[in-house]
Amino acid sequence: MSPFYPPEQIDLISSYNDIVEIISQYLPLKRSGRNYKALCPFHSEKTPSFMVSPEKQIYHCFGCGAGGNVFSFIMRKENMTFPEAVRFLARRANIELPEFDSRIASKKEQLLKLHELAAGFFHWGLTDSKSGESARRYIEKREITGPTIEKFKLGYAQPAWDSFLKHARKKGYKPETLLEAGLILKRSRGDGYYDRFRNRLIVPVCDGRGRIIAFGGRVLDDSQPKYINSPDTPLFRKGNTLFGLHRSRDAIMASGTAILGEGYFDVIRAHQEKVENMICSQGTAFTEIQAQVLRRYTGKVVVAYDSDRAGMEAALRGLTVFLRKNFEVRIVTLPPGEDPDSFIRGAGAEAFKKLVIGSMPLLDFKLNQLCRVNDIATDQGKLAVVREMLDTISIIESAVLRETYEKKLAERLGVSPGAVREEYGKIKRPVNPPRTAQPSTPRKVNKYEVRLLKYLMENDTVLSFVQDELDPEAFSPPLQPIVTLMLELFRQGKTPLSRTLVTVLQDKKSQELVSRWLMEPQSPAPQISEVADLLINIQKKRLRAKINECRKSVGRRGIAGKEAAAFLGKSIELTRELKELPARIRMKIRL
Ligand code: GTP
Ligand code: MN
Repeated sequence: MSPFYPPEQIDLISSYNDIVEIISQYLPLKRSGRNYKALCPFHSEKTPSFMVSPEKQIYHCFGCGAGGNVFSFIMRKENMTFPEAVRFLARRANIELPEFDSRIASKKEQLLKLHELAAGFFHWGLTDSKSGESARRYIEKREITGPTIEKFKLGYAQPAWDSFLKHARKKGYKPETLLEAGLILKRSRGDGYYDRFRNRLIVPVCDGRGRIIAFGGRVLDDSQPKYINSPDTPLFRKGNTLFGLHRSRDAIMASGTAILGEGYFDVIRAHQEKVENMICSQGTAFTEIQAQVLRRYTGKVVVAYDSDRAGMEAALRGLTVFLRKNFEVRIVTLPPGEDPDSFIRGAGAEAFKKLVIGSMPLLDFKLNQLCRVNDIATDQGKLAVVREMLDTISIIESAVLRETYEKKLAERLGVSPGAVREEYGKIKRPVNPPRTAQPSTPRKVNKYEVRLLKYLMENDTVLSFVQDELDPEAFSPPLQPIVTLMLELFRQGKTPLSRTLVTVLQDKKSQELVSRWLMEPQSPAPQISEVADLLINIQKKRLRAKINECRKSVGRRGIAGKEAAAFLGKSIELTRELKELPARIRMKIRL
């Protein structure tokens, strides 16, 4: 359940949390005219293009486009949802918020505390307990160092059936709670419980904020199963969690790339050797949700799987989720028998970084692979390669990229692009899920529309004159929600608009757009006649489109005479409107 906070509450909270003060706690801000300036925390740069405006209470980076208000800054920096950021800033300002579902909240708190307790117990097991000797030897043999043990809070679960159960009960936890946390299991015969993790090396799994929410437990020898992991609990969902993300986030943003390893130890090793942008899923294919979470930080992934798995169909297919989300996906080829852990341990971090730099785009990789297993001298072979490749290519959303790959494919196989395209027509293109805001693909906006909106946003009086002429649907789609909201706020008397807008806009892309406009040096106010021209231009475009539609309808085959007449009438009416539009708008705007 996501709580809804009324706008007044949000306003109140933002008025007690000055953006300059908040951002200063994360990075040094330098005064620069009316604004403050800093190196952008969301991408790597050498000269500051991150600006904060105390007047408008917004920030914007002219380098990467990040922007918004104090809430979006906290959301991004602390990896919080909007309600979480609201609560966080409310607490900071000592503003009381109603607890939305205190039962769920306190249950989560309790489970988090319990995981903290368990992690501490396991960690003691590894570092200090007598029976931890074998685990200490194992860790040493794998060349995992003391600082790494501390950093990842690695642990060891005692061999007895109920060491943790006893420990937790002494601390007041009921078996039901331990069961819900997945830390113990019910005996199949008779009453009673036993520890899930026994005689295993323990790897704590954290959420995006670094709170422990689950554990992985590895055997110390070759027995099976190699790993036992926490089940899904109220705190943890395997498919939503990226192991290592909270430690890798900054490095991912700084380098612009996330490296995807396969297992806990790939990530642990990589961090130990200062390759800090690696994460992994936990033994399963990446999910939509994981890809979406990662998309907040980067649009590029480099996949570093075991050499024998990297080429496997299943492994490649598991990566299509990244293509769908418009990631650039590249594949690292490790020497046979190696995984990132063993490779870095043997050859060193620098050698690994070289492999990452030399990684190959997923589609090229797949094409090579297919050309190796199929005989492309034969028609059969060619067809097989084309079909397989088109399967993957069709997932890509961008038409331009798709075409590039179709061409490449045709070239490689020595057939005409037309032939490939024809084959493509036979493949059902999977229906893409409805598009949500894609953080890194800039949406197209019309600069006249932007100029007008910027001006209106800063000049309430002018807006009051043109509000009836301002039809959100006349604007390009990315701007429509902004216009709608602007009118609504204006009608509610919420001015100055510029500041309120950023607070109320919750769609990240719109927020970034608006904060960019507000942060750009103010262009000299346009002449009032220019405002009229802009408005006329925009409205004309829309009227013309409507007229065209009507005309097309008139000529459509199978349309009844009466209906055609109606369309004709409508188009005549619209044409008249079009003719009168400039005069009408000029009249209205003459202040
Ligand atoms: P090492 O063999 O110690 O290097 O382990 P690793 O962490 O590198 O794991 P590996 O590459 O073998 O497997 C990748 C991931 O899959 C692991 O980190 C686990 O999350 C998961 N996994 C591996 N084996 C098992 C298993 O037997 N059971 C379950 N549930 N998960 C497993
Ligand atoms: Mn491994």
